[in-house]
Amino acid sequence: MGSRHQNCVPLGICGALIALGLCLKVAAVEYYTEKPSFLPSCRIYEPGFTKCSTNTVQKLIDQLVVGIPEIAQSFGSFDPMHVKDIAFKQDNNEVATIRANLTDVVIKGFAQTKIKESRVSKKDFSWQTKIYLPKMRLDAKYQMAGRILLIPLSGSGNMFIEIENLDILLLTKTQLYEKGGFTFDNVTSVRVQLNMTRVRTHLDNLFNGRSKEVERSTNQFFNDNWRDFYEALKPLIYQTVESLLFNLMSKVFNLIPANFFVEDIPTSKKLYGTGKSITDP
Ligand SMILES: *[C@@H]1O[C@H](CO)[C@@H](O)[C@H](O)[C@H]1NC(C)=O
Ligand SMILES: *[C@@H]1O[C@H](CO)[C@@H](O)[C@H](O)[C@H]1NC(C)=O
Ligand SMILES: *[C@@H]1O[C@H](CO)[C@@H](O)[C@H](O)[C@H]1NC(C)=O
Repeated sequence: MGSRHQNCVPLGICGALIALGLCLKVAAVEYYTEKPSFLPSCRIYEPGFTKCSTNTVQKLIDQLVVGIPEIAQSFGSFDPMHVKDIAFKQDNNEVATIRANLTDVVIKGFAQTKIKESRVSKKDFSWQTKIYLPKMRLDAKYQMAGRILLIPLSGSGNMFIEIENLDILLLTKTQLYEKGGFTFDNVTSVRVQLNMTRVRTHLDNLFNGRSKEVERSTNQFFNDNWRDFYEALKPLIYQTVESLLFNLMSKVFNLIPANFFVEDIPTSKKLYGTGKSITDP
């Protein structure tokens, strides 16, 4: 840890600032200057890269589960994952016109993440990652008003969503840049495609508890017709997953140089040519 880059170099000043309670934030590690031992690196211009890279990304996920302090500090734990409030508004859509707020969102299941394949493009160093999660569960408090598939919905209370056999295809675009003699990935775009075999939801206190029977039958209807509901809410689900992954990956790849994943990664200058190189300010 000692060899990692520290932002607050002059120790005397730092000490004085700590005394003033000002140095804690800047003293945090900005990025790794030494390859962490949990991370096996690969060479993209050698055979077997995709297999190697798949294992490396799995090791990264496994370590996120254990906890990478510099990530946990700002992102929190990986499993269970606490997500900031989700506000959802879908209008002008035949299948769903709905406003919903989710708060106290906790998602469990990421500890079982299996990386099936991690491909990296030699052309632009974008990634294509195939991920499998056997089971995911989201718990939250909800507030909702609107309708989905002609069913009027309103209410507030506790809810959960359980997803089984989730396949994620993660498409990530990055831009390489240099920092402190290392090449880093700047994550610029994250797109996902999702498939699952089953979604189960339960919304407590639907219609604000006016009828337990209607609440029960509506929940039953959701679960019997989950594919239709999933399709109706797909924009929200994709947007939520993409922004979550963007946030996480930006943090990870600003912390760990791309060289520690792909030893022979070209510099940004070499990849883009001199005209487009982005260097450390
Ligand atoms: C969601 O929250 C926003 C602001 O916090 C509020 O204006 C809106 O009415 C809420 N929507 C629902 C359906 O509760
Ligand atoms: C989802 O299923 C479709 C149809 O079987 C398939 O073409 C697609 O590749 C799958 N996507 C993922 C992320 O598994
Ligand atoms: C990373 O990309 C964003 C835009 O997606 C840009 O604003 C930012 O300056 C980039 N950072 C670096 C270090 O290249």
